[in-house]
Amino acid sequence: MSGIINWTILEEAVASYRLDRSEMRNTAQRFQQEMDLALAGKNSSLKMLPSFLAAPSGHERGNYTAIDLGGSNLRVMQIELLGQGQYRIIKQISRSLQDPQGGYDYTAPEINGQQIFGFIAEMTAKVMEGAESQGLGFTFSYPMNQQKVDSGRLIRWTKEFNPRDTIGRDVADMLSRALWLKGIEIRPSAIINDTAAVFLAGCYQDSSVCAGSICGTGHNTCVLDPHSLVGARCQPMIVNMEAGNFSRLPLNCWDRILNQDTEDPGQQIMEKMVSGKYLGELLRITLRETGEKGVWSGYDRELRIWTQPYSVDTRVLGWLYSDQVVNKELLDHWMELNGIPLSEENHQMITRWGRAIIQRAIKLLAASYMAVIKHSRQFNQPGWVIAVDGALFKYLPGFMSGIEDILQEEFPPQTVGLTYIDDGSSVGAAVAAALTK
Ligand code: GLC
Repeated sequence: MSGIINWTILEEAVASYRLDRSEMRNTAQRFQQEMDLALAGKNSSLKMLPSFLAAPSGHERGNYTAIDLGGSNLRVMQIELLGQGQYRIIKQISRSLQDPQGGYDYTAPEINGQQIFGFIAEMTAKVMEGAESQGLGFTFSYPMNQQKVDSGRLIRWTKEFNPRDTIGRDVADMLSRALWLKGIEIRPSAIINDTAAVFLAGCYQDSSVCAGSICGTGHNTCVLDPHSLVGARCQPMIVNMEAGNFSRLPLNCWDRILNQDTEDPGQQIMEKMVSGKYLGELLRITLRETGEKGVWSGYDRELRIWTQPYSVDTRVLGWLYSDQVVNKELLDHWMELNGIPLSEENHQMITRWGRAIIQRAIKLLAASYMAVIKHSRQFNQPGWVIAVDGALFKYLPGFMSGIEDILQEEFPPQTVGLTYIDDGSSVGAAVAAALTK
């Protein structure tokens, strides 16, 4: 032991987040088994939900309205698809689902379906005013059962979001009714998961894209499945895996504590180990539990940071993962604000744990992408690219490149990669509307 921290326990905790190369490959194998089980209609933690959409050609054109309801934000855009993978955003509105200053919180437990869809309709009405829209695409980032592309029944909410009176209902009906109440008579021609949207937006620009993945508030991946075919066109279909629910993973004691206190214990296990909603919380729980055990000194259990769930933003992990001086300063400031005594040792402790949490997330995502690429190799093409979107890829330094480095080592050179798609969830909704026109 040195100074005020029990370094042995600290190292043990770091080790409990470690995933070595062979464990990562085993995880990839288990992920692939779950994909196969789900595709065969057998019991699996993955879902393989059909989207009834095939890959775009890249030549889609026209003016479309795109709604994107994510885990933290609502975005509505008027988009012109120009063909050859090009597009232009004509108008857009973006709102957080939670705005204390604006006096609303659509993530609150008392919110019901009418209220959330009313909010979506209000923003959509603003964007559609004066616009010439050839169709409406709706990116709905939650699991739904689809029998056709323009309707989908909500299976359940995820990401700690849970508006009442909505489960089992048709998302297109709820949206159309809310729009009608605002005087707009339009039905979405496509309802898609955000992973499908990112895939469509990615494939619109580059035909080697074989899958779409999100790592933002939540996590999920879709894949173009060669065996699930779209109607008379007999083209491979985009299948939403609900990868965030993958559960054949080794949990450590902090994962278990986090999981117990969520809205859906036992579900969304992978999501709770890799996505923006949960990584900050995992760090908070690790620090709180070790503080309780006296592993580090200066812990005061009365402080808001330890009593208030989700009070550590995943952005904090971003500062830890980079060596830039400015990030060290941000972290110091954050520690001070939250009453964590500023010392070199505490700084090191938080950095070690934060990095371990991110590194594990990188490896778990890489493992799932290894499985997805192996599945996609059934398409004989020169390369396989996964289109990605979400705050972790965008803002967390080293996150996307960390995954890419692993994939480069696991597959022949120059054959695999990730591509970040800006506005993927919205552009994909416009492409889906164009495909179903
Ligand atoms: C959650 C949702 C899933 C979505 C993902 C990313 O995992 O269940 O449908 O794609 O978050 O937003």
